[in-house]
Amino acid sequence: MRPKSQPSWKRLPARHSGTLYLDVPYWDFVALLNLQTTTGERWVEQVDRDLPSILIDHAHCEKKAAGVAMSLIFAYGSGRPAMCRELSEIVVEELEHFRLVLDLLAERDIAFAALKPGAYGRKLNELVRHGEPQRALDRLLVASLIEARSCERFALLRDHVTDRQLADFYGSLFESEARHHSTYVQMATIFAPEPVVRARLLELSAEEARIIEVGDELPRMHS
Ligand SMILES: [Fe+2]
Ligand SMILES: [Fe+2]
Repeated sequence: MRPKSQPSWKRLPARHSGTLYLDVPYWDFVALLNLQTTTGERWVEQVDRDLPSILIDHAHCEKKAAGVAMSLIFAYGSGRPAMCRELSEIVVEELEHFRLVLDLLAERDIAFAALKPGAYGRKLNELVRHGEPQRALDRLLVASLIEARSCERFALLRDHVTDRQLADFYGSLFESEARHHSTYVQMATIFAPEPVVRARLLELSAEEARIIEVGDELPRMHS
């Protein structure tokens, strides 16, 4: 679903239409993340309009990411020590991210308030099939896509926000989310042969692209 024209980045630094990550062209960066659409200007406008809500939501996202990895240990970890080790590392990293975002909120006098969640996670989770091993495969691939979208958005935030500390913070996070994306895709091959994983990832990432293009009225990390 690569669009015929590049997305509009006129409010972002010029290099977004060229290279973004590891000096690869922007679309190659997005393809490495198995994403089929890029974030448009609508989301950047939401960031400009209500950055505190995005930051609070980011804290909730890191907390949820730790919870997802933990719940996968409970669901599929028995008899799979290597998988448990990988997931445990993700739990620890996500909790560390959560703590860092809490610090960031405290420094800015932003309360870590309850926030109505955006529709993104719910819509993606509705795509998870019933029955094993399809359910395991889908849960891992949905987690991989959430990591990928986070990674893409952290990269955008890094280069968009004028607050230097915030830009550096997002710069420090996006590589670990890219790694989490790859780890989840790799883990999915425990439950299905690689061609099946690739085909399902393509289907789910097409759905993810549709969800992103519809967007969400609420300013959220994945709106
Ligand atoms: Fe994270
Ligand atoms: Fe992550």
